[in-house]
Amino acid sequence: MKVLVTGGGGYIGSILVQMLLEKGYKVKCLDRFFFGMETLSNVLGDPNLEIVKDDIRWFDPNILRDVDTVMDLAALSNDPAGELDPRKTMEINYKGRVRVATLSKKYQVERYILASSCSVYGFQDGVVDERSPINPLTTYAKANALAEEETLPLADDSFSVTVLRQATVYGLSPRMRFDLAINGMVLGFYKHGKIPIMRDGTQWRPFVHIRDTAGAFIKVLESERDLVNKEVFNVGSNEQNYQIKPLAELIAEAIGLPFNFEWYGSPDNRSYRVDFSKIRDVLGFKPKYTPKEGAREIYDALVEGRVKDSIKTRTVDWYKFLIEAQKIVKEVELRGVIL
Ligand SMILES: NC(=O)c1ccc[n+]([C@@H]2O[C@H](COP(=O)([O-])OP(=O)(O)OC[C@H]3O[C@@H](n4cnc5c(N)ncnc54)[C@H](O)[C@@H]3O)[C@@H](O)[C@H]2O)c1
Repeated sequence: MKVLVTGGGGYIGSILVQMLLEKGYKVKCLDRFFFGMETLSNVLGDPNLEIVKDDIRWFDPNILRDVDTVMDLAALSNDPAGELDPRKTMEINYKGRVRVATLSKKYQVERYILASSCSVYGFQDGVVDERSPINPLTTYAKANALAEEETLPLADDSFSVTVLRQATVYGLSPRMRFDLAINGMVLGFYKHGKIPIMRDGTQWRPFVHIRDTAGAFIKVLESERDLVNKEVFNVGSNEQNYQIKPLAELIAEAIGLPFNFEWYGSPDNRSYRVDFSKIRDVLGFKPKYTPKEGAREIYDALVEGRVKDSIKTRTVDWYKFLIEAQKIVKEVELRGVIL
């Protein structure tokens, strides 16, 4: 069984690739490696791993010939990064992923799993589930919604399509992200002794640990096809919808230091709570980790120097840097020609 993971060098992808290899799958990883290839350093050289450094918008479809399942994670992966260049975000997160799904079907891949996000729900009163109307508010969320809308109808008796709407992820990864709520809180506590909390702290958000969300992709791969084909699942658990300030208190408790915090942002009490019963009831998915465990592992890694705060850990800043660097290279080339 061979699995192609797009975005396999990313925050979730690098953990997913590792978990698939541990389970004995053959893995092909297609990624531009915007965050470097070192994110896969603990699996590079594994005979079951093949690396394809390419773009989902123009990779050679022949790489799909020996693939059984595609897990499609490549994307500009949050709201601020999605707003840097909305046209590019649509090209990659919407059109690029529809291209991956369409080619997968053409090349007789059996299963396609789309990494979507609970952000498609936008902010809504009450609790939303997979049947709720969506309300995508940002370019990133809109691209996810469009990708879902165009990949699901490709499903038929020989091509299974599943959409996973992941909650906000937390936990350690070789491509660390400190721009995610829990991870950022732990970093702030470590660096300044204060947990940064977005005002006014009463807003609800759903969360899931990185190994649990990676596990959900594997769960879909290993579940009976009738249970997953043409289905949308929220990935997380009902117990892990949290209000931000009480969540910060839990994190301080996990780390074992007195609770201390600082506000940031303008008051924003827009909330959303998500129902995760479907993935639990249909697939038997049950998260193994909690924010307290996730916070502890990140804090320990910071203290021991196994993870560092760098520009690469803040997605939008890193993409801004890459765009500026590209401009400078072009400028130099241009001047070279003029001279
Ligand atoms: N992390 C979260 O909290 C979260 C929550 C919900 C959904 N998601 C979704 O899960 C997926 C993975 O997220 P992540 O946190 O691992 O993000 P990430 O930014 O760490 O990883 C994305 C990977 O995609 C690659 N990539 C980007 N554009 C590409 C292109 N055009 N061609 C090939 N590769 C490309 C990048 O190099 C990177 O390795 C994304 O689709 C994201 O939107 C993430």
